[in-house]
Amino acid sequence: MTMPNSTSLHTAVIYGSARQGRQGIKAARFIVRKLEQRGQLVTLVDSQEHLLPLLDLMYKEYKAGKAPAAMEAIGDILKAADGFVIVSAEYNHSIPAALKNLLDHFQSEYLYKPSAIVTYSAGPFGGVRALINLRAILAELGTPSIPSAFPISHVHNSFDDDGNALDGIYDERVIKFLDEFEWYTHALKLAREQKQFDHSLPTQQQLCRGINTSGMRIPRP
Ligand SMILES: Cc1cc2nc3c(=O)[nH]c(=O)nc-3n(C[C@H](O)[C@H](O)[C@H](O)COP(=O)(O)O)c2cc1C
Repeated sequence: MTMPNSTSLHTAVIYGSARQGRQGIKAARFIVRKLEQRGQLVTLVDSQEHLLPLLDLMYKEYKAGKAPAAMEAIGDILKAADGFVIVSAEYNHSIPAALKNLLDHFQSEYLYKPSAIVTYSAGPFGGVRALINLRAILAELGTPSIPSAFPISHVHNSFDDDGNALDGIYDERVIKFLDEFEWYTHALKLAREQKQFDHSLPTQQQLCRGINTSGMRIPRP
């Protein structure tokens, strides 16, 4: 176990099932433990703990410090993070509504930071259909996902309640997955330190939607 220090990477693990008896919390705890064992500073963003309303105003649309407490708390965690691991169930071949709702509240907090995808399901396929959806969503949010992903089958039988793997294969597989995530997290952190992006300029997504950084329509010549 490596202890975190002032140069440690900071990862937010975002977990998005808010239903009673949810099983994926065990997989989220597994990922948190594995990142902590690498000396990372890790914060679990649990959609059940930080209950957000259905999206009305985005975080950026509130005056500084005036968003609802749960939104402020998540905003602070995302801003401090160097990267994100998203732990997602598969609900009807896509991601849970609670996770999408959480992700959609935020925008600039993700930019120029990598993400890594963990999906799971009760069956044998490990949530791979949600995985494909999630890659596209994360790309649009500005936190591109690393090439490797970590699908987990039979999630209910694969971990204990503290997030210890009951099948040793997960302890083995997770090493390369997190090695790759850390590589990208280091690389983009270094790049952000060397060159700050000008957040007053619209992003590519905003240009495509015809709006500026304040959400105002860009006049056509
Ligand atoms: C609304 C809903 C939709 C589901 N859809 C799928 C699905 O499309 N594919 C799948 O493999 N499992 C599906 N399942 C089963 C989940 O894989 C299983 O219940 C899993 O434990 C859900 O994660 P959670 O317990 O963390 O909420 C679905 C479950 C729910 C509640």
